Amino acid sequence: MAKETPSQKENKPINRREFLNFAWLASLGFLTLNIGGMTYLFSMPRFKEGEFGGVFTVGSVSELPAAGSAPVNYPKVKLWLSNTEQGALAIYKVCTHLGCLYNWVDQEGKFICPCHGSQFTPEGEYIQGPAPRSLDRFVLRVVDPNTGNVLAETDEAGNPLPIPNDPNAVVRVDTGTRIRGKPKG
Ligand code: FES
Repeated sequence: MAKETPSQKENKPINRREFLNFAWLASLGFLTLNIGGMTYLFSMPRFKEGEFGGVFTVGSVSELPAAGSAPVNYPKVKLWLSNTEQGALAIYKVCTHLGCLYNWVDQEGKFICPCHGSQFTPEGEYIQGPAPRSLDRFVLRVVDPNTGNVLAETDEAGNPLPIPNDPNAVVRVDTGTRIRGKPKG
């Protein structure tokens, strides 16, 4: 049988086996690119620091409102910061009844929802009204600004967090970690 010349080899159409090999390699390359892209996207934080859903820095311990004073409203990140005699609380500002935004009423010393009148203590505990439970809370963290070490953190039950006596420590709220309020009654 006559041997193929180089130009005959070049012009020869690819056979089925070569085509399948090529298609398989192309799919493998495409899959690798997709997995790489997905891994990159999942490794990115879902929320930016300072926006609702991410970590919000309230300020240093020395900037916290005095214990027992009126809660402070942070509308951008949907929370009330309440510094009670037992410790600090970051309270989600959406009513547990039907989702209205409740207000702090200074004259009454409690949170009152304008929609159906549910009332809550400065700690967000249920007092009265149609709300099925106390207000939800976020996790608060007090962090050493030099080392980044966590000095104190809200427990799983969402109890008030006693604030460490370090005026320079930084107070942060993780608005991505919400703890459900206790059911009423
Ligand atoms: S939504 Fe707040 S009491 Fe109904």
